[in-house]
Amino acid sequence: MDNLIGLVNRIQRACTALGDYGGEGAVQSLWESLPSVVVVGGQSSGKSSVLESIVGRDFLPRGSGIVTRRPLVLQLHKTDDRSEYAEFLHMPKKRFSDFAAVRKEISDETDRITGRTKQISNVPIHLSVYSPNVVNLTLIDLPGLTKIAVDGQSESIVGDIENMVRSYIEKPNSIILAVSPANQDIATSDAIKIAREVDPQGERTFGVLTKLDLMDKGTNALDVLEGRAYRLQHPWVGVVNRSQQDINKNVDMIAARRRERDYFQQSSDYGHLTSRMGSEYLGKVLSKHLEAFIKARIPSIQAMINKQIDELETELNQIGRPLANDAGAQLYTILELCRAFDHIFKDHLDGVRPGGEK
Ligand code: GDP
Ligand code: NA
Ligand code: MG
Repeated sequence: MDNLIGLVNRIQRACTALGDYGGEGAVQSLWESLPSVVVVGGQSSGKSSVLESIVGRDFLPRGSGIVTRRPLVLQLHKTDDRSEYAEFLHMPKKRFSDFAAVRKEISDETDRITGRTKQISNVPIHLSVYSPNVVNLTLIDLPGLTKIAVDGQSESIVGDIENMVRSYIEKPNSIILAVSPANQDIATSDAIKIAREVDPQGERTFGVLTKLDLMDKGTNALDVLEGRAYRLQHPWVGVVNRSQQDINKNVDMIAARRRERDYFQQSSDYGHLTSRMGSEYLGKVLSKHLEAFIKARIPSIQAMINKQIDELETELNQIGRPLANDAGAQLYTILELCRAFDHIFKDHLDGVRPGGEK
């Protein structure tokens, strides 16, 4: 079933490339029918840290204040060989095998659009990570929700960020990772507030509770983690990410994961929940959910592609052949791509039909 998510990853990549190439109209609806995981929450709630630990690699800028200032569309591709590398859409020829350089490029590319300010931009950065150690997933990291504009930010920034976040999570095909810090009352969670707006039944919202290690002594988060404080359809997952001090000291991912595991195993409060807590578990849960999600939607995605093919053919007929101009040639490329995907989908459908299941 890894293949199925891999397929969707490939389509998303192609859509992105084509969209960049000027084919927005033709690929927009297709793109929007594909699932992805969107990370939302208040500023410094730990969103980028959660994403990083799902990926199992250090590559995202993190820290206090507004660090994430552009959407990051992150596609994880599970590979069979041992090589591990990353590629940006804006630098198609360059393979990054040094993840510290990936972090620097995210930061530089952010500044290229926004300047070295505290401003935000809607223009996404697209990054693909290829590794044998990831699950096939598309994740989107977003700037954090805030309450007031700080120095150097326009007055509209609070609403701008909210609208940006909403534009990603209101798509019915997005899976919402609602990140809330355990050291704040859940009733004040920006993540839950905005997730509930677009997904009132909590059908596609996963609650993630960060900073369990920073709670006041004598308190715990059992009310949230056991679903009594705020009920979601999917169980809450608690995580312990690296602290700012860990980041400053360059504590690596492997050490951080081991410590997270130890934290739950040794905890007198959460010991009984160990098997469904932590970043690794979260990654697995998401991947599983995504599989089910895609499987259920293959027929409608396929219908969408067929509609796209029809529309493209009509458009091409109007332009007329031979394809003298660039626009025609471009449409033709998109059409060929859609046809190829249609074939792949047909194969997959055969594989998942009752009785056809492997
Ligand atoms: P974002 O703004 O939501 O993306 O949050 P970041 O991932 O950048 O994290 C903000 C700060 O909180 C960083 O200094 C992290 O080290 C710290 N942090 C995040 N999660 C945890 C956690 O579970 N425990 C501790 N102690 N610190 C955390
Ligand atoms: Na932050
Ligand atoms: Mg961030």
